[in-house]
This record gives sequence, C-alpha cells and structure tokens, in this order.
Amino acid sequence: MNLGEIMKKNSDIWGLSLESWVAGAVALGSSQKSSGKLAQAHILPGKSAKIPKACETILKSWQKDFFAKKSPAFQMFEVESGPLFLLHPLLASGESELDAALKNSTRARFRDALGHLLQAAERAEVGALEIHFDADMELVSAGLVGLEIAAYKYKRTRKREPLKMALQVFNKGRAVPLKAVESAVNLGRGVNVARHLTNVPANDLNPETCANAVREIFAGSAVKVDVWDEARLKKEKMNLHVAVGQGAVVPPRLVHLKYRPKSGGKGKPVAIVGKGITFDTGGVNLKPSSGMRIMKKDMGGAAAVIGLFVWAEGVGLKVPLDGYLALAENSVDAHSFRPGDIITARSGQTVEIHNTDAEGRLVLADAMDVAVTAVDGPRALIDIATLTGAIKGALGASLAGLFSNDSKLSKALHQASQSVGDMVWPMPLYQMYRSQISSPFADVVNCSDGFGGAITAALFLETYAKKMPWAHLDIYAWRDSAEGAWSESGGSGQGVQLLAEYLESL
Ligand code: BES
Ligand code: ZN
Ligand code: ZN
Repeated sequence: MNLGEIMKKNSDIWGLSLESWVAGAVALGSSQKSSGKLAQAHILPGKSAKIPKACETILKSWQKDFFAKKSPAFQMFEVESGPLFLLHPLLASGESELDAALKNSTRARFRDALGHLLQAAERAEVGALEIHFDADMELVSAGLVGLEIAAYKYKRTRKREPLKMALQVFNKGRAVPLKAVESAVNLGRGVNVARHLTNVPANDLNPETCANAVREIFAGSAVKVDVWDEARLKKEKMNLHVAVGQGAVVPPRLVHLKYRPKSGGKGKPVAIVGKGITFDTGGVNLKPSSGMRIMKKDMGGAAAVIGLFVWAEGVGLKVPLDGYLALAENSVDAHSFRPGDIITARSGQTVEIHNTDAEGRLVLADAMDVAVTAVDGPRALIDIATLTGAIKGALGASLAGLFSNDSKLSKALHQASQSVGDMVWPMPLYQMYRSQISSPFADVVNCSDGFGGAITAALFLETYAKKMPWAHLDIYAWRDSAEGAWSESGGSGQGVQLLAEYLESL
C-alpha cells in the first residue's frame, strides 16, 4: 500500500471507521451494522446506569473493595445480554498524594478509561457496543477521543482495515447526537494521523513523500499546501535548512500549510513550526546504534502540525493558522555538512556547526524566520520539535518542555495542557547560559557540550523568533510502551491535543 493511498483525505482508517458510529435513533440490537456480540458499558458514577440485577451484588462487593484499594476502575461482567463493562474513570490510578503538584486531568482519565474499554471490547470480540455516560459533555468528548485513539493500530491502518465495531453513545440516558460524536472523534483522528506519520519508516517517509502525503491529505480542503523544493530553499537563503539535508539522497523541503476559516476568522494567524527530520543519523557526528534506533520519529513535531491541521479543518476552527514543516533527512555522506562549517542563516546570522547532530534547531531557525517575516504575519509563533535528549532526561517521556519569551502564551499553553491532559512543564530561558553557545568564528554555535542541553537549544531558537511572542515545545513524540488509550507503542501524536485545546481557548 503506498503512502499516498493511505493518506487519502477523509479516509476513515486511522482508528474507528466513520461508519462505526450508529445514529442515536437506531437501536444497536436492530442495527444491520452489528455482527458479533452486543455489549454494554456504563461509565460511573451514573444515576441513569441500568445495571442488571444479576451483577448488582457482585458490583457492591467489588465497589467496597474498589473504594478501599482504589484498584481496578474497570470491570467486565458476563450477563445474559452479553458482556457488561463498568468503568469509573474518576477512580483511575493516579489519585495519589503526589498529584497535589501535577494532577492527571479528569479529561485524561476519561480518555484513558474509554481507551481501555475499547481494547477490552475488542478482546471480548464485541461486535456492537452501547456506551452510557452520566457526565458533562466535555468528559464524554474526552472519552470519545480515547476510543478513537485506542482504535488505531499501525498494521491495521497500513492494510486499510479500520476496526469495525458498531458504537452507540448515550449521555444521561439520551443518545449523543452524531455531530457531537464526530467533532470529538475528529480530535482523536488528528492525534492518530500524527501517530501514523511518525510510525511510517524512513524508507517510505522522506521529505518528498511526506510533502506528497500532506498534499493528498488536504486536497480539496480549506487547507492550502505550498511546497518549497531545494532550489526555492536556496533562493530564500535558507542555508541552515539546506545544509542539514545536503547529505541525503532526497533533498529537503519546506511545506507551508495555510488554513483560513470560511467566515469570520478571529484575528491574525497563529504560526506553528514543526521539526520534520525524517531520519536523524546524527550526520557526521554519527549517533550510536541505540540512540539512532527510533530516529524515524524525529519528524514527530511536523507530524503533530499535520494532525493539528486535520483537526482544525475538520472542526472548522475559527482561528487562522499557518503551519510550517521543516523537512529534511540528516544523513551521512560525502556531501554532508561538517563540524566547524560556518553557515549563514536566512535571518543573516552566522552559525558555526559544533555538532551535526544538533540539526533540528538549524532547520527550525530558518523555518521560524519564514514564519515571522511572512506578509500576513502571525500574532504568535509556536514551534514543536523532538529537539533534545536532555529534555527527556529532565522531564521524562510524557511531559514536554515548554519554553517561552511571553508569559501570557506560556500560561495559556500550560493551562491547556493540564486541562486536556497532554502535559507540558515550563522551563527557563536562562540567559546566562547563552555564553555556552558563543563562537569565536561566528555569531553563534549550534550547540554546546555542556549541561542544560534543552535550555541552550531553546536559547538558540529564541533569537529567530525576533520580537514575536513565541513558545517552544520540546517533545518526545513516542511511547516506548502501550499506555492508557494508546493501545500500542510508537508514535504518540504528542502536542496535538495540547495545541487544539490552546487554539480553542483563543
Ligand atoms: N533528535 C535528537 C533529539 C532526541 C534524541 C530526541 C533522543 C528524542 C530522543 C536531536 O537532533 C539530537 O540529536 N540532539 C542532540 C543535541 C546534542 C548534539 C547537543 C542530543 O540531544 O543529544
Ligand atoms: Zn540530531
Ligand atoms: Zn534530531
């Protein structure tokens, strides 16, 4: 299956099939779409939950146990009508004392609980699933996002076989309108698009095939796609971007995504720049085997931007957006750039290369310069990038580092991250560390060997934001193991939910 075919716009292969969602009025039992077992799920606490007598006693004992131990927030029963699932997301693990500092969001609990439900239903070979909530719509939506995220499987998507399970959702005893379901699921779809692109290996995904995939995803939509090839990058004096890609067989590209709402857009656009290194060998400063193993994910920032635009277009976001994907492959070759090379950035700054493995900040610097100097310039600039190993050391895999020159933007992103459960933590742009990236030969070096690698990387980028309110997200973009709604390891779509939540708050 070629990538282009997989990327066809509106394809319903990312997670659940669009046909999975049964319109509210149709009872599942009578639906033609359902084959296999019919199952029910109740999301507790719920006044409207009609729990069959048969399992009430079991539930009582279970609940006692459950409240005492805070253990399983999830249970499956076999009743006459078929499997019955009971979930209590609010009692999901993570409510320990330590949460006083940083809580797992309630929405994340619903998302993860419903993600577990889908996996359990799949294991139980359920053909049709009726889900009953008794919660705010915001939490119902979060649950639906979790269902969609859990339905994504790399192999299934590759073979174009979406999970077929008829689903019907009720809240407080009433069917949730299909429109509401669609808009929630759309966010899960954006996350899954990012996950899938991150998972596609570098022998299939390079700057050219990635740009083509983006064209296909947005063909005929409200998102306009403009691709700059290497000749154009040279013309634009994007010498840093060109240098990073010059050792690869497939030359680098910059993809510009432009989304303008159909009517009544709110204010100036927000620009989002994604690091799109389709494979990072480290270049001449070659990475060791262990460090290189999963470097197909080094375009996870660009993948998040693509997923975000899928979401924005799908929900008809009111905020205008510009996305820039800085695509290149950092390869080892006689043409590769080297340590000591001095390269002039698009902004005019001279950069001495200290280490060719610090390539992400180079492609981002030129792409950020394009974003801030655009005629239809943005009100704010956000970059998202798998930039440093150091941030993973400091914050772990699920917390992204948030750096910003603007406290309002930083607070808004932090707030959005907490409420949606796509976590970030603010990090300092400590100016004293700038001395670590000074060069005797140029305006700056691209990195240092010193401590605080995530900070010096962010300081390097800060210059290219000029005076623009700017935030930098240093992400991992990957899950080393399946967890929560993420039913398999691999590309995580980190940042899509966060940015969607932030943009909705504007
Ligand atoms: N893509 C890597 C960063 C990375 C490594 C992200 C591992 C996630 C997991 C980036 O291009 C890189 O190699 N950064 C170097 C910078 C160093 C040479 C200053 C790093 O973090 O080691
Ligand atoms: Zn690198
Ligand atoms: Zn990299």
